[in-house]
Amino acid sequence: MTDSRQRVYLVTGGAGFIGSNFIHYMFNKYDDEIFLINLDKLTYAGNLKNLSDIEKRDNYRFVRADICDREAVSKIFKEYDVDRVVHFAAESHVDRSIKDPEVFVRTNVLGTATLINCVKEAWQKEDGSFLEDHRFLHVSTDEVYGSLDEPKEGQEPDYFYETTPYDPHSPYSASKASSDFIVKAYVDTYSFPANITNCSNNYGAYQFPEKLIPLVIHNALSGKSLPVYGDGKNVRDWLYVMDHAKGIDMVLEKGKPGETYNIGGHNERQNIQIIKTILDTLLELLPEDDDRRGNVSYDLITYVTDRLGHDRRYAIAPDKIKSEIGWEPDTCFEDGIKLTVKWYLENEEWVKDVTSGDYQKYYEEMYEN
Ligand code: NAD
Ligand code: DAU
Repeated sequence: MTDSRQRVYLVTGGAGFIGSNFIHYMFNKYDDEIFLINLDKLTYAGNLKNLSDIEKRDNYRFVRADICDREAVSKIFKEYDVDRVVHFAAESHVDRSIKDPEVFVRTNVLGTATLINCVKEAWQKEDGSFLEDHRFLHVSTDEVYGSLDEPKEGQEPDYFYETTPYDPHSPYSASKASSDFIVKAYVDTYSFPANITNCSNNYGAYQFPEKLIPLVIHNALSGKSLPVYGDGKNVRDWLYVMDHAKGIDMVLEKGKPGETYNIGGHNERQNIQIIKTILDTLLELLPEDDDRRGNVSYDLITYVTDRLGHDRRYAIAPDKIKSEIGWEPDTCFEDGIKLTVKWYLENEEWVKDVTSGDYQKYYEEMYEN
């Protein structure tokens, strides 16, 4: 049971990439001061091995459930006095959304609507107001703002601000934009105590190797080609995942109810630059006698057909979160990419497990009896 002095968190999607890093961040920072429930459906993207060092804690519970399942979500609120909800659960990969959009609408839109309504029912008092010091944080993306042009010579570059109109292009970003609007509607209609954070591309440990950075690390180590979409000059704005986790925690504690905050660290890179940096970092970190060194080469870079509707450039203006909340990233890209490559080199088993599909047996082994 929870201790009355502990603040109780419900984290959705905590077995995924950012969610599991956030859970590590929170236990490192708050230790026994918090009680944390992780609700996750364990889709292909959910991996409980990300949390194998956490699961024996007395102040941690894992619940396998779908955010679209009203009964399962409401049950948690009947069992626990939840103070904070941090909503990561989503289908997150743009390429998958192009192939199969419907599951994105189901989870990201319907799932968010179901979840937020259960939270409203649990937190709303008879007079319509909400319990004091309770907060729902919806984790969203910079992709809702659409695409920016490359800056022209002599012109100031454009950035995404909280006031930038939404203009999503992929089924993924359209579903995230819709979920943001559901949350905004709850704020406007019921004065529901929510915040939205729109963050740029994350990188770090435990990222599924379908995403650019872990895919390049994994393919390069095994001598497989490195697919570059289009001309390789699309720009993404990269943030170390622990800085995102810190931002979410700070918005929960210091954000104004109802406000949106963009999170990003002004680190724009072309995809091709990212790929070359990873190859250079691998060669810097791999010992001379490591067999995998021979596989790592710029010759693996292979230009392939572009992603449909590929957004050209993302770039976050983090001015508001910096001035109102005092958030700034701690890890620069040069350090973050080294930490990330090092983590993948040291966690070959994790990668093997994920690429073979074995990680999906872990839940059955650990939890089903
Ligand atoms: P991820 O795909 O690694 O993890 C998603 C998690 O959600 C998985 O554990 C999965 O099992 C779970 N999940 C999926 N459908 C579910 C459902 N119906 N019910 C319960 N759980 C479900 O994603 P991620 O990269 O960690 O992203 C987390 C959140 O952050 C997403 O909302 C995403 O839109 C947002 N975001 C991601 C990035 C990024 O760079 N990865 C950047 C900004 C915002
Ligand atoms: O901007 C935030 C978003 O970042 C999040 O909302 C998404 O959940 C997250 O997946 C990420 O989306 P991207 O589409 O930017 O990430 P991805 O790693 O898939 O691709 C990064 C860039 O690299 C993009 O321009 C496409 C390109 N790419 C990707 C892959 C997988 C390639 O050139 N080759 C590849 O094989």
